[in-house]
Amino acid sequence: MASPQRNLEIKARDPDSQRSLERALALGAEDCGEITQRDTYFGRTAGRLKLREQSPGDAELIEYRRPDEAGPRVSDYRLVPVSDPDALREALDAALGTLVVVEKRRRLLLWEGVRIHLDEVEGLGSFVELEATDGDPAKVERLRTELDIPDERLIAGSYSDLLLDSRERLLAAARAAMENAYAPHSGFKVGAALRTPTGAIYSGANVENAAYPQSQCAEASAIGALVAAGEREIAAVAVVAEQMDVCPPCGGCRQRLSEFAGADTPVYLGASYATTLGELLPLSFSLDS
Ligand code: THU
Repeated sequence: MASPQRNLEIKARDPDSQRSLERALALGAEDCGEITQRDTYFGRTAGRLKLREQSPGDAELIEYRRPDEAGPRVSDYRLVPVSDPDALREALDAALGTLVVVEKRRRLLLWEGVRIHLDEVEGLGSFVELEATDGDPAKVERLRTELDIPDERLIAGSYSDLLLDSRERLLAAARAAMENAYAPHSGFKVGAALRTPTGAIYSGANVENAAYPQSQCAEASAIGALVAAGEREIAAVAVVAEQMDVCPPCGGCRQRLSEFAGADTPVYLGASYATTLGELLPLSFSLDS
């Protein structure tokens, strides 16, 4: 049986990835270019199981276990080459269920055996990761100092954890807004929450009126809050209704959301249903269409 490999690694938020890139290059790190990666995480298992699809590069199945600690931590992992990622993704989804999909653009650099990852993660922002395959803590520490990564920016969990947390937080904000909905005429309370690319959350509730057509949907209220704060981009949407587990946004709100969101923008309808705006509103009308 193949024994697991071992990595020593840290992960941190990176407020200025351009500066990190310049510092790494100044240290003499080799620039290995940019990789687009999609990691599909499966099931709630003891370890973590993800299918990595990347370009350039081949697909691989990665099984790993790692303590959730912010500081340097050791990760044991197995890599299995995958020749048919579509079929494997479907099989694992059928057997274990898909937990979350992490999409990112990774700038990969190498410095004295340490991998430097400058990651742009969809829906989460910018991060820097340091991975020493030979597990030398001194090298990771040296790079940490050089790249100026303070303790406060270190992240304990994986990107999948952060995404799941952020989905939960968005749903919680939508639920809180729903509690305040003004829906005396329909009795149907709705809450919506929108996350921007920087992680800020704006929420809104439906506001009804005795003259029924003057009522406003929760999504429209949330969009108003986001725009009033000076924001113009929606990275994720959550909609909840008191009386429905899955409350699909009305047609008008799909169009309203599409003004500020893309086809890939995740839309969480209650706790159990995740889709995208593109699926809810195919062939949407926009002025650049
Ligand atoms: N509603 C929303 O707030 N969002 C939707 O996407 C669907 C409908 C509200 C409007 C009205 O106050 C109530 O639900 C019943 O239609």
